[in-house]
Amino acid sequence: MKDRYGIILAAGQGSRMKSKLYKVLHPIAGKPMVEHVISQVEAVDPSEIVTIVGCGAEKVKSLLGTRCSYVLQEQQKGTGHAVLQAKKLLKNKIGTTLVICGDTPLLTTATLEKLFEYHQEKDAKATILTAVTENPTGYGRVIRDELGIVEKIVEEKDASLQEKLVKEINTGTYCFDNQLLFEALEKVGTANAQGEYYLTDVIGILKRSGAIVAAYRMPDFSESLGVNDRLALAEANQIMRTRINDKHMLNGVSIIDPNTTYIDSDVIIGTDTVIEPGVFLKGNTVIGEDCLIGAHSEIIDSAIFDRVKITSSHIQGAVVGNDSDIGPFGRLRPETKLGEHVHVGNFVEIKKSTIDDGTKVGHLTYVGDASLGKQINVGCGTVFVNYDGKEKHHTTVGDNSFIGCNTNLIAPLSIGESSFVAAGSTITRNVPKEAMAIARTKQINKEEYAKKLPYSS
Ligand code: UD1
Ligand code: CA
Repeated sequence: MKDRYGIILAAGQGSRMKSKLYKVLHPIAGKPMVEHVISQVEAVDPSEIVTIVGCGAEKVKSLLGTRCSYVLQEQQKGTGHAVLQAKKLLKNKIGTTLVICGDTPLLTTATLEKLFEYHQEKDAKATILTAVTENPTGYGRVIRDELGIVEKIVEEKDASLQEKLVKEINTGTYCFDNQLLFEALEKVGTANAQGEYYLTDVIGILKRSGAIVAAYRMPDFSESLGVNDRLALAEANQIMRTRINDKHMLNGVSIIDPNTTYIDSDVIIGTDTVIEPGVFLKGNTVIGEDCLIGAHSEIIDSAIFDRVKITSSHIQGAVVGNDSDIGPFGRLRPETKLGEHVHVGNFVEIKKSTIDDGTKVGHLTYVGDASLGKQINVGCGTVFVNYDGKEKHHTTVGDNSFIGCNTNLIAPLSIGESSFVAAGSTITRNVPKEAMAIARTKQINKEEYAKKLPYSS
């Protein structure tokens, strides 16, 4: 097999997006577009990938890191000018160069592989990846002669009325003989409607020089979608999400309503887990087997182990151990770690805390900056008072303790194991193990006094 190279075009501003964020950084299923593209390119195993950066160069570079090398296109003078910038890195290489746009995130590795195969089969010097669509508006058209042989690509803005009727479009993805590509690019001019150096002109130039130019027409147009504006961004997201949901369902995950389930690209889900409608699973989330992710839950960058039940809850940057349950209306904030068989009930917020096996925090409670041991019962309305207005302080609660309802635990504080804190206490001093702490004013009963109160007539 000849050596393969990849060039990703990612220097444009993407003015049609009308955004402060550079186009190729807009997310599709939670991941910037250009990251989808580089992953697909990596999978065809090129010996080198060069990304052309310009607008937002530093941001693109810090996103892709060492996955590719970079050249800077200082001024965006068109796609041909962009590819030409890679000449200094690639001009002496012998092999096939894949050129792909940073704004076509739906193209799959399988399609790129077929493009390479077709290119080789036809012994072509350039092969265009094309697709057919009923609405080709905005794309370059592939112009063929009467015999069906590719002649050139014409951009929408330069196309004649006749050419505009052509429904075969250029996806912006190509295989080129590396050295001929850079030779031909030197001949590209700017005599067109946009005054730009078009990469697409290379096709006509190579054709006229007598080289074999081919076009591989892929069956599924939707894969080729170029994201130029927010409408296409929404469409691309929808297509990607359908793909992701289908993959999980085929792997043994039940999704009750795929139309309202939003799962980011890198999320992993175990078999026999059931996902109810309105769920968002984002970022680097991993979910185990036999879980129930109930309606309207949002889980971000978290690890959920097996047999966990989550109902209408918000979980971010947290770990939830086997057989635990959260919600309805629970909130786990970053750096929270729950052990096994932990119960977190309704209207409970937990922040930067660890809660060990079998502990129950059932209702209306805030746990912040705390370490709770095993088999503890935290009563309704407990507040771990972690903030003094200036600094955050830590609370520790030992195994088998009981914290009564409506208790304030003023940190820093340590509650020993098997201790008992009476309901309604405000605890400001450490509680030794096996002690009972009670800190509330004593009750007074005034005999017959209720009768004197205004409301009792
Ligand atoms: C391009 C093709 C068009 C094709 C379409 C497919 C050309 C002239 N036209 O049009 O035939 O149907 O893609 O989606 O190639 N870029 C740079 N530097 C530049 C200009 C663009 O790096 O100076 C990058 C952009 O960041 C983008 C990609 O090249 O990732 C494509 O540019 P864009 O302006 O979106 O091209 P289209 O008009 O969509
Ligand atoms: Ca485009």
